[in-house]
This record gives sequence, structure tokens and C-alpha cells, in this order.
Amino acid sequence: MPRWRFCLTGIILGVLSCHFLQLASAQMTDPFEVDALQAVRRALKDTGKNLNSWKKTDPCVSNWTGVICLMDPNDGFLHVQELRLLNMNLSGKLAPALGLFSQMTILNFMWNNLTGSIPKEIGNLITLKLLLLSGNQISGPLPDELGSLSNVTILNLDNNNISGPLPKNFANMTSARHFHLNNNSISGQIPPELSALPQLLHFLLDNNNLSGYLPQEFSRMPNLRILQFDNNNFEGVLGTADCKELFLI
Ligand SMILES: *[C@@H]1O[C@H](CO)[C@@H](O)[C@H](O)[C@H]1NC(C)=O
Ligand SMILES: *[C@@H]1O[C@H](CO)[C@@H](O)[C@H](O)[C@H]1NC(C)=O
Ligand SMILES: *[C@@H]1O[C@H](CO)[C@@H](O)[C@H](O)[C@H]1NC(C)=O
Ligand SMILES: *[C@@H]1O[C@H](CO)[C@@H](O)[C@H](O)[C@H]1NC(C)=O
Ligand SMILES: *[C@@H]1O[C@H](CO)[C@@H](O)[C@H](O)[C@H]1NC(C)=O
Ligand SMILES: *[C@@H]1O[C@H](CO)[C@@H](O)[C@H](O)[C@H]1NC(C)=O
Ligand SMILES: *[C@@H]1O[C@H](CO)[C@@H](O)[C@H](O)[C@H]1NC(C)=O
Ligand SMILES: *[C@@H]1O[C@H](CO)[C@@H](O)[C@H](O)[C@H]1NC(C)=O
Repeated sequence: MPRWRFCLTGIILGVLSCHFLQLASAQMTDPFEVDALQAVRRALKDTGKNLNSWKKTDPCVSNWTGVICLMDPNDGFLHVQELRLLNMNLSGKLAPALGLFSQMTILNFMWNNLTGSIPKEIGNLITLKLLLLSGNQISGPLPDELGSLSNVTILNLDNNNISGPLPKNFANMTSARHFHLNNNSISGQIPPELSALPQLLHFLLDNNNLSGYLPQEFSRMPNLRILQFDNNNFEGVLGTADCKELFLI
């Protein structure tokens, strides 16, 4: 057989397999995100067996529970857009691998039994809009890195065991409308810098261990409607020691 025929066959096979790969990727989760989901799964304890579907081959194609995906025409892969895992009786921890999803917009682990701390890697999710971790037993500090989440509108971390200070660089979360941080053990002074948040509507800080003073600047925030701060250790509050809640409508 002349050598050119081998070459021609090789070229045809090459073109065919290339075409085949493109077709295949149209129905696949980004392999990098498959690995990340498996790491997320390994850190959780699924006592209620609600994540049994997280064993089948492809997360987006085989419809893993709570994994909502979107096709990105730029790379042809399915990407995780939302993790909807509220009320699933999950314990264990949030894995640092949660920071590996390039198109994540909603992270929802509300009302489970998660322990451990909030991984600083979640600050890498620059596309994130909602960070919902209310009603767990998450402890440790609020990572400074969350300040990078400039598209987050709702930060619900209430009813956990979070301690340490409120980071001043949360002032960089310029889309934030709701900060629900009540019922934790957050301590120290409320940073005056946070009064620069242009969109903030609800700032709930009641039932924590905050001390110092409530910055005067908060009374001049353009959109703030509810500022709730009862059951803390403040020294004096806008001059009214027994004022617990401000409804600034
Ligand atoms: C949640 O898990 C605990 C064990 O950790 C179990 O006792 C309880 O029945 C579970 N609840 C639900 C609603 O699955
Ligand atoms: C995916 O699974 C959910 C339940 O987890 C179900 O409601 C939904 O219909 C499924 N979607 C497809 C396309 O199979
Ligand atoms: C948390 O765990 C306790 C005990 O294991 C269980 O009774 C309770 O239902 C769990 N709560 C949630 C929201 O999973
Ligand atoms: C942030 O939100 C805006 C408006 O929805 C959007 O145009 C922009 O792409 C988002 N940025 C990122 C990094 O997702
Ligand atoms: C979290 O805080 C609650 C209420 O303060 C407490 O009952 C619980 O033991 C704490 N859990 C952990 C894991 O620290
Ligand atoms: C906001 O982020 C920039 C870096 O992007 C940083 O220099 C600045 O200190 C941050 N603002 C606050 C109030 O932390
Ligand atoms: C917050 O904590 C207070 C005091 O411990 C408690 O009375 C209240 O029910 C808690 N709020 C929620 C929503 O659990
Ligand atoms: C609250 O903070 C004070 C110091 O300001 C500390 O002594 C106390 O243990 C803290 N309490 C809780 C419940 O974290």
C-alpha cells in the first residue's frame, strides 16, 4: 500500500475524531467541575441519603440532585450555575473546592447541619449573586476574601456559630442588598467603612457579640431600611442606649 494512503486515512480519522469530540462536549459537564463536585461531596456527610444521585457519571447530564447547570457556548461544556442543597440533612464541611466553579451564581446550603468554617476560596466565585448558608453550625471567622464578591446581592449567614470580626473589606461587596448575619458570635467593632455600601437595604446583626459603638455614618446610608442590632455588647447606640432596631423608611 503506498504511503500516502496511510496519511490520508490518518487525516480522515483525525478529522472524524475531532468532530466526535466536539459533539461529545456539547453534552458534558466541564471535567474540571466534575472533579470539584466530587471534592465537595467527599467533605459532606449525607446521613439522609439525599445525594445518592451524586454517583452517576455526569453531574449535569445525569441530573445530580441540587446541581443546576448551564451550557457555555464559548467552551461547549455544561457548567454548574447553582448548588441548591437547602434542607437536605447534610453534615460535614464546605470544601475549599467550592471556589473552583467559574460560573456559579447561587450557593445554597441553608438549614443543614454543616460544621467547620467558610472556605476563603468561596471569595474566588466572582460571578456569585447569592451566598446562602443560614441555619447550620458553621464556626470560625468570616473570610476577608468574601469582600471580592462584588456581584453578591444577598449574604445570608445567620443562625450559625460564626465568630471573629466583621471584615472591613466587605465594603467592596458593592451590589449587596441584604446582609443577614444575626444569631452568630461575631465580635468587635462594626467597621464604619461598611456604611459606604451603596445598595444595602437590610443589615441584620442582632444576637451576636459585637462591641464598641454603632458608627454614626449608618444613619446616612441612602437605601438602608432595616438595621437590627439588639442583643450585642454595644457601649452606646446612636445616643439611645435602649434602641434595638432602626426602621429608616
Ligand atoms: C437527619 O439525620 C439524622 C442523623 O444525623 C437523623 O436522625 C434524622 O432522622 C435525619 N432527618 C431527616 C429529616 O432525614
Ligand atoms: C432532575 O431531577 C429532579 C429531582 O431531583 C426532577 O424533579 C427533574 O424532573 C429531573 N430533570 C430531568 C431533566 O431529568
Ligand atoms: C441536625 O442533626 C440533628 C441530630 O443529628 C437532627 O435531629 C436534625 O434534624 C438535623 N437538622 C437538619 C436541619 O438537618
Ligand atoms: C456582575 O453582574 C453584572 C450585572 O448582572 C454582569 O453584567 C456581570 O457580568 C457580572 N460580573 C460577573 C463577574 O459575573
Ligand atoms: C452553636 O451555637 C449554638 C447556640 O449558641 C449552640 O447550642 C451549639 O452548641 C453551637 N454548636 C457548635 C458546633 O459550636
Ligand atoms: C477593596 O478592594 C481593594 C482592592 O481591590 C482594596 O485595596 C481596598 O482596601 C478594599 N476596600 C476596603 C474597604 O477594604
Ligand atoms: C436568635 O437568637 C435568639 C437568642 O438566642 C433567639 O431567641 C432567636 O429565636 C434566634 N433567632 C432565630 C431565627 O433562630
Ligand atoms: C463576647 O465577647 C467577650 C469579649 O468582648 C468575651 O469575653 C465573651 O466570651 C464573648 N461571648 C461569646 C458568647 O462569644
